[in-house]
Amino acid sequence: MDKLIIRGGTPLRGDVTVNAAKNATLPIIAASLLAEGPTVLADTPKLQDVTTVCSVIEGLGAEVTHGPNGDLTIEADRIRSHEAPFQPARQIRASFLVMGPLLARLGRAKMALPGGCAIGTRPIDLHIRGFAALGAQVALVHGYVEARAPRLVGNRVYLDYPSVGATENVMMAAALADGTTIIENAAEEPEVADLAHFINAMGGKITGIGTRVLVIQGVKRLKGVSYRVVSDRIEAGTLMVAAAITGGDVTVRKVKPAYLKAVVAKLREAGVQIEEGRDRIRVSCNGRPRPVNIKTLPYPGFPTDMQPQIMAFLSCAQGTSVVIETVFENRFMHVPELNRMGAQISTQGSVAVIRGVEKLWGTSVRVTDLRAGASLILAALAAEGTSELYGVKHIDRGYVNIESRLAEMGADIRREAE
Ligand code: UD1
Repeated sequence: MDKLIIRGGTPLRGDVTVNAAKNATLPIIAASLLAEGPTVLADTPKLQDVTTVCSVIEGLGAEVTHGPNGDLTIEADRIRSHEAPFQPARQIRASFLVMGPLLARLGRAKMALPGGCAIGTRPIDLHIRGFAALGAQVALVHGYVEARAPRLVGNRVYLDYPSVGATENVMMAAALADGTTIIENAAEEPEVADLAHFINAMGGKITGIGTRVLVIQGVKRLKGVSYRVVSDRIEAGTLMVAAAITGGDVTVRKVKPAYLKAVVAKLREAGVQIEEGRDRIRVSCNGRPRPVNIKTLPYPGFPTDMQPQIMAFLSCAQGTSVVIETVFENRFMHVPELNRMGAQISTQGSVAVIRGVEKLWGTSVRVTDLRAGASLILAALAAEGTSELYGVKHIDRGYVNIESRLAEMGADIRREAE
């Protein structure tokens, strides 16, 4: 396994371009199982999670080709198995997103209960209840989920919570069902909207995209298309905080500022200067931030996937901030590591109280999950002295070549074998 070695203290400067969103690419790869004919995804990010989901669909019989310029071609005409291969499927939770498309295409689907980042128990009850509402019989057998539905029939599906994955899975199953499905209390995340646009580009009939009520009129067939996935708002947000925490000046390109409103609002409240263009955001910062209180919420609220990163930033604030995590119940794994770097954070349940310190210092820390890793990189970039980050594989799940992208903006960062 690799480690990152970071010497902090250099303000980041320059331009950086954001990749296609991991959290839209993964469901869209799953949705390509719904199509007849090839699907071509432009500029797919070379991430471990993308490779893992590709292995899952290859195990089902789909053909996946990586083009020289980042294009990913998926041909799913000959899916021959309804059972996802255990090893890649168990690795990440997003693999579970092939359940909906498999059910719709083959009338059967089986896969291991999902794994993924260790940020909570993350049940799948809402996915299962959604499939059942469309007429599937779902059983949990020896650690596997098995679903059968010779015919899926549209229905009303109310989600107790606007779960991103459940909305996506039910939407994909409903896209080829008989009749109309209405998902109420659906997730409004831009990545869910992007999946809906992709399905419509393939010939689907989805309305209410980007709202709490999605109406999916089932169609007989969907056809493969060429598609460019929306840009990654979490990668953008992470790079924005990297500029702010180092007191730098960075322009983040290929972003949709409309998708980053909560992050921009909170950074501005902390005293960060932000200029928004049509598809770029310039971030600069002088001196220590002001303390800010934040509560994570489903979109358009403050994203839980930015909580660890903003906490690293608030660790250096001039005063005390409170962060409340409402989406996942165990998402403070970065806190003990940040504290080892000199942060003063105490947590109780879902509440973290962050007493800002003048300086963080470099030390050795262990990365436990993807966004915790991003948070520790940010802290190390701002810290005095050198940090070593172990467990970089978690970071590689969601950030492409993070060290070279930061180094291009002046960071003193390198990767070494552990
Ligand atoms: C997706 C994102 C992840 C992000 C999260 C919330 C992908 C690949 N991952 O994960 O990066 O942090 O959205 O924005 O897109 N829940 C249930 N029952 C269910 C499903 C979810 O109780 O059946 C709960 C979860 O335990 C969690 C909350 O709902 O507490 C949100 O989960 P969900 O929106 O489903 O997240 P994911 O789709 O797993």
